[in-house]
Amino acid sequence: MKYQAPRGTHDILPRDSLTWAHLESSFRNLVGLYGYNELRTPTFEDTELFTRSSGETSDIVTKQMYDFADKGGRSITLKAEGTAPAVRAYLEHGLGGQGQVTRLWYTTPVFRYERPQKGRYREHHQFGVECLGSASPLADAEVIEIAYRFLTTIQMPDVSVSLNSIGRAATRAAYREAILGHASAYLTEMGAEDRLRIEKNPLRLLDSKDPKAIDLMKTAPSIQDFLEDESRSRFASLCQALSDLGIPFEIRPEIVRGLDYYTDTVFEVLSHHLGAQSALCGGGRYDRLVQDLGGPDTPAIGFGMGIERLFLVLESLDKLQEAPRIVAFVVAADEIARPMVQRICHDLRNAKISAQCDLEGKDMRRQLKQANALNAEIAVLVGEEELSKRFATIRDLATGEQRALPFDRLVEELQ
Ligand code: HAM
Repeated sequence: MKYQAPRGTHDILPRDSLTWAHLESSFRNLVGLYGYNELRTPTFEDTELFTRSSGETSDIVTKQMYDFADKGGRSITLKAEGTAPAVRAYLEHGLGGQGQVTRLWYTTPVFRYERPQKGRYREHHQFGVECLGSASPLADAEVIEIAYRFLTTIQMPDVSVSLNSIGRAATRAAYREAILGHASAYLTEMGAEDRLRIEKNPLRLLDSKDPKAIDLMKTAPSIQDFLEDESRSRFASLCQALSDLGIPFEIRPEIVRGLDYYTDTVFEVLSHHLGAQSALCGGGRYDRLVQDLGGPDTPAIGFGMGIERLFLVLESLDKLQEAPRIVAFVVAADEIARPMVQRICHDLRNAKISAQCDLEGKDMRRQLKQANALNAEIAVLVGEEELSKRFATIRDLATGEQRALPFDRLVEELQ
């Protein structure tokens, strides 16, 4: 039997992992400038953590969880998103303090039983930040600024920030009535189960993939018209703060997000280079979640950013990182030179010069072939003559030019 990676998953091959590492270090460096600290949570959690937080009507909970009973009969779910585990850890370890703002970031695999397509996988990876403890619109602006600035830092072209406010409970209740009224004819055509789901959370209609629903929603009332004064004024402050920071954004009332924990601010950052799965990043405020998971009243906001999608765009624009070339391939021209070859490799690596040599006892011609195949910059040749005169022959593999360098000046000269 030929084994393959499970459907919807993929290997990150050496040629691609350089770009992944570059994205990871760029993200780590950027969030460090804002004082965010890294959090690593387990790959699986108790299922209830996700059902309680993501919402019983969300696609993630109803269709996409990788859940199973472990050998002890516990219901376990592979991490279906990063926010609920971060909040769980925040509460479990008391990471917050009274009146304190806690800034966390993570990079994590996420598992969702999706229908795989380009940009949508069953295992994907996210960068995320969570800012807990501030209700200020400036916290919203900070989090959106991080997402936007990161994308600028990695030279992601043509990104746009889409922003909305979905208000709080009263807004949702009023909007529910309005949208159910607007969609009443459509709802009667639906199966009982789907209808119940929509009746529980009509916001799901706004991110439905059904073409009929998409059409219907074009003429739906806007949730912005149902905002309470407080939500309206904090949304205005956020828009002002983003303008002050020079971050371009577009207000799009149809952005409601697929997770139930959001309150007030929701946002997405889209790329015009991604086709159907255009969201590079999604996030929002979740002021009730910490309390819902058993903690004190703690406002919070964050985002998750899909690393595979970043990679897809960079790849389509031919902007992947190139592998650094090996500098030196050290060749044993005679058997007797092998210990010296090892020694030279060791000294070069100590001086942070990349070096390789043959491990298989190949003759000189095949060693040089290997050096060329590796695209090494130079070959360092050591044979009987070199040993007796205590120098190495350096061959430039591009031009074929050769010169002799004493062993004791080799590292210094190559540096
Ligand atoms: P999300 O919108 O479900 O939000 O995911 C965040 C990002 O992950 C998306 O914008 C997208 O780039 C990427 N993504 C999602 N699903 C897939 C998939 N199946 N394949 C590839 N990439 C995908 C969350 O997960 C929230 N926890 C974000 C958040 C943090 N909100 C507040 N704090």
